[in-house]
Amino acid sequence: MNNIDLRSNETDSLNLIKQLYDSLYADHSNSSDCFNALQTAVKQNSDQRSVWLRLKDHLKAKEQGWFLSNELIGMSLYVDRFAGNIEGLVSKLDYLQEAGINVLHLMPLFQSPPGENDGGYAVSDFRKVDPKFGSMEDLKELIHEMNTRGMHLMLDIVLNHTSHHHAWAESAQEGKKKYQDYYYMYDDRTEPDQFESMMPEIFPENAPGNFTYNEACKKWVMTVFHQYQWDLNFSNPGVFVEMLDTILFYANLGVDILRIDAPAFIWKTKGTNCQNLPQAHTLLKLIKQCVLMAAPGMAILGEAIVAPSEIMKYFGDGFSANECDFAYNATLMALQWDALATGKTRVMRHAQRELLSKPEGTSWISYTRCHDDIGMGFSDDHIRYAGFEPFYHRKYLQDYFSGLYAGSPASGDLFSVNPRTNDARISGSLASLCGLEKAIKTHNENAIRVSIDKILFMQAHSFFIGGLPMLFYGDEVGYTNDYSYLDDPAKSYDNRWMHRPVIDWNKNSLRNNPGTVEYMIFNGIKKIASIRKKLPAFSDHKNITWLPDEDIHLSAFLRYDAHQKIFCLFNFSSSPLYISWYIVKVFLKVGDLVLDHWTGTEFKVGSDQEHFMIPAYGMIIGENK
Ligand code: GLC
Repeated sequence: MNNIDLRSNETDSLNLIKQLYDSLYADHSNSSDCFNALQTAVKQNSDQRSVWLRLKDHLKAKEQGWFLSNELIGMSLYVDRFAGNIEGLVSKLDYLQEAGINVLHLMPLFQSPPGENDGGYAVSDFRKVDPKFGSMEDLKELIHEMNTRGMHLMLDIVLNHTSHHHAWAESAQEGKKKYQDYYYMYDDRTEPDQFESMMPEIFPENAPGNFTYNEACKKWVMTVFHQYQWDLNFSNPGVFVEMLDTILFYANLGVDILRIDAPAFIWKTKGTNCQNLPQAHTLLKLIKQCVLMAAPGMAILGEAIVAPSEIMKYFGDGFSANECDFAYNATLMALQWDALATGKTRVMRHAQRELLSKPEGTSWISYTRCHDDIGMGFSDDHIRYAGFEPFYHRKYLQDYFSGLYAGSPASGDLFSVNPRTNDARISGSLASLCGLEKAIKTHNENAIRVSIDKILFMQAHSFFIGGLPMLFYGDEVGYTNDYSYLDDPAKSYDNRWMHRPVIDWNKNSLRNNPGTVEYMIFNGIKKIASIRKKLPAFSDHKNITWLPDEDIHLSAFLRYDAHQKIFCLFNFSSSPLYISWYIVKVFLKVGDLVLDHWTGTEFKVGSDQEHFMIPAYGMIIGENK
């Protein structure tokens, strides 16, 4: 298990930390001084951990894998766009709890420059709350209030880069060698060109290339994301120690889950694509060990949105995890969208074998939408196995979600189109991608109902398949795309802003008016959340088995524990499906009683020759009684 208290085993832990550290930094000229600084950071932060947080650490360790619980339901939100500021957010905690939320992921809160800042992912001061959200005191007050309500907090550490306005970057621009060594900076293009020959572009449309020329210091700076996000150089152990100290500072504020932003990029070596390198994994393992020593109750989420086989490596190697406690199930998320667009679940099913190898004691963040685009990053092999041709299959998905495909109900847009590779990701809100935007525009009552079914269906699939479900704010009441970002020059080039709404609380209050779209979606999600919370079989203990491949439109799996067996059937097609009882034969017999928690109806298992019906975009969450 992950969250065992390693304080009793301090010597072993320190030895492990030293080994990991040496494998990265033994040859560095500053290695030994930085190791001493690392030890001091771990010790000081451990000593400064409050009595309350120590008690929480202890309770979490006793629970063994507290974050695997079926009772956790999360939401990601931008504090300003959701509630104005931190104080405003405190007044919205009742609303969040009403929706069943008890884990809050607050998008970056620490200071970033006004204007272009990638939604706060260009941090200029890691320890100062951005005044637009409030103060550190406000943040502490919020955390206190969340604690008294039994809610958990998730915050980001933006590890890979800083804003070009961070004090380190400004000192580097002034020519200070110490801080130039915090980044990748070069006098001419020789080394940048060597890097570029193998590095893919992340935002090819709006931030092409991986280096930016800085006039002030006359150097080329590595900027993998945007020109204003300078990549930190983690081959310098001084950078590692600074960032580790910040991680432990967040831990001592009371962060329960730390989201490590973009960990795939934190180590760069010429001659590689500079992603998912073995040293990046060593670095994460080193962070994990230091966190276990100083703040054992804080779980770590690695935001690695990479190929499925690469994502798995972020849990660590060996039987029990020793790297990240959580990873995003970006593969499943994208495959749900694939299944919705094609009406077929074959590609999704084929990818499961890989996903099931997740180590015991770790978990997924499962989600349908987040603040980022949807990347169809699953492997071509899965597509081929399902009988499709990868190039045309991906093209179909792009056309379907961007609304180009005739008859597609979706209104989204392509994001980061790469004309050289034809690669493109997809922007758009859950509701718009499920057809609600077009349906409302055309006053088509039937299409509105279908899109609501799809919204709930997609959410339910990710709520029940395993992992901590993370809603994206606005989706709980069906916000469609917001095109006002086009009027803001700091945002207009980045269409991810179309699905990052500013909450209109009059709209959200319609959740109380029966018959409104908001009412139907909000109450549907509440119901899904409450079903998950009451059934412990939905805790994440590698307790999922896929049911026989009965129908190409069906996603069918069993969730179980010692006392419960819940079979979950989802019909991804636009027509009703008739399924033989054979599908549940391995664990149920003819005459057994089943309660479908979604419709509240009870029925009896029939013989293999008999069939039962699942409506279009419908589901059965059946418990053997
Ligand atoms: C992560 C964030 C994304 C951001 C990027 C660079 O992927 O989720 O929004 O643009 O990191 O920080």
